[in-house]
Amino acid sequence: MTKVSYKRSWAEPYRMKMVELLKMTTRPQRVKAMKEAGFNTFLLRSEDVYIDLLTDSGTNAMSDRQWSAFMLGDEAYAGSSSFYRMEAAIQKYYGYKYVIPTHQGRGAENILSKILIKPGDIVPGNMYFTTTRLHQELAGGKFYDIIIDEAHDALSEHPFKGNVDLSKLEVLVKKYGAKKIPYVSIATNVNMAGGQPISMQNLRELHTYCQSQGIRIIHDMTRVAENAYFIQQREKGYEKKSIKDIVKELCSLTDGATMSAKKDALVNIGGFLATNEREVYEEARNMVVVYEGLHTYGGLAGRDMEAIAVGIGESVDDYHQHARVGQVEYLGHQMMNYGIPIVKPIGGHGIFVDAKAFLPHLTQDQFPAQTLAAEMYIDSGVRTMERGIVSAGRNEKGENYYPKLELVRFTIPRRVYTQAHMDVIAESAATVFNRRKKIKGLKMVYEPKYLRFFQARFERL
Ligand code: F0G
Repeated sequence: MTKVSYKRSWAEPYRMKMVELLKMTTRPQRVKAMKEAGFNTFLLRSEDVYIDLLTDSGTNAMSDRQWSAFMLGDEAYAGSSSFYRMEAAIQKYYGYKYVIPTHQGRGAENILSKILIKPGDIVPGNMYFTTTRLHQELAGGKFYDIIIDEAHDALSEHPFKGNVDLSKLEVLVKKYGAKKIPYVSIATNVNMAGGQPISMQNLRELHTYCQSQGIRIIHDMTRVAENAYFIQQREKGYEKKSIKDIVKELCSLTDGATMSAKKDALVNIGGFLATNEREVYEEARNMVVVYEGLHTYGGLAGRDMEAIAVGIGESVDDYHQHARVGQVEYLGHQMMNYGIPIVKPIGGHGIFVDAKAFLPHLTQDQFPAQTLAAEMYIDSGVRTMERGIVSAGRNEKGENYYPKLELVRFTIPRRVYTQAHMDVIAESAATVFNRRKKIKGLKMVYEPKYLRFFQARFERL
């Protein structure tokens, strides 16, 4: 394989063969749509959205090879050849021995948590993800955040904000004992921290420590190739290694994994559980039948497994990652040029705008991130997502959590939008930024009991 030259600017290693036409809207139409959606971007109809940055999950564009592979889908209930092709790709690129397909990431999290966690167990991790933590809790575990402090600081420019603070883990091991810790939960490219990577050195040190204590490492490998890209760019000794080799090395330092293939692996649906332990595999193979489907399809169509098999190979291509993360960085730099406050360093899957700094005249009770997301949509039809006080919810006493990070996520789907779209997004953010002082906050007028950010409704103050 030829090495990517990073001295030149990146460009997409593909061209377009088919396009999806979008509905263009006027400002009055968007004002009406936003009001009808209760100032919640989750409640917009996607046809009213011009550039959809709600999530990078399942929103990727598949390649001609993936679409061709679709036609090879073996839809047999049992023993589908598509499963064996997906299994072979996972073994080849990630190195895990045993594979169980699931309908998406949380399906794998459910099964793995039920197998490994006993009530009263402790599960340390490098920050939480919503579904991952919920499944750990539903299995009776308690999650502890052991990520480095810098991860919670929007202004810290630490190159590996996904790193674990080993001393925080040692405190837990001393207090509860290693037997109470079934595994350490490690995400590659930490979503909630802003798409921030863990370094190979940090993971190696964690691996050595966990081995000495007899504790597993379970890898949430949803964005592992994006993490590998940052290691290649930032970590000493990895400049000349391929993303393919770095991904394999990351996986080799862990004992098993859950994967949402809807991100890195460039598909619209799918996931899997992987493990190197025969007993865990046997149990998972039994349990998947209850929750997902037979162990050779796990809730997926044969064609989905074919697309995953091809997508995994494409995701570890150096040119692909250079263009993927390059596009996110391009948007981030555009926004920084306009003086817009964003989380730094720029992450792998999106730009996280600091809404507290953007709208400093609003108190957190006036929902700055929710407000900013609504204003972005009204300005240009760009749909983003609130990640602040609304997402954080309430504690057991019913009081609002006041998270330190009050962010709006501009998540970039893979291979979907062009550099011109990035310019439109940045210009729109700049327009909103220039009239920020005139922007009024919101009040919540409807609050659902669970995961309120999905369906809450607001009105302008
Ligand atoms: N782990 C991480 C780090 C994730 O970002 C997600 C999903 C999951 C697990 C769950 O996977 O959706 O396939 O069940 N994140 C999406 C997002 C929903 O928008 O960030 P899933």
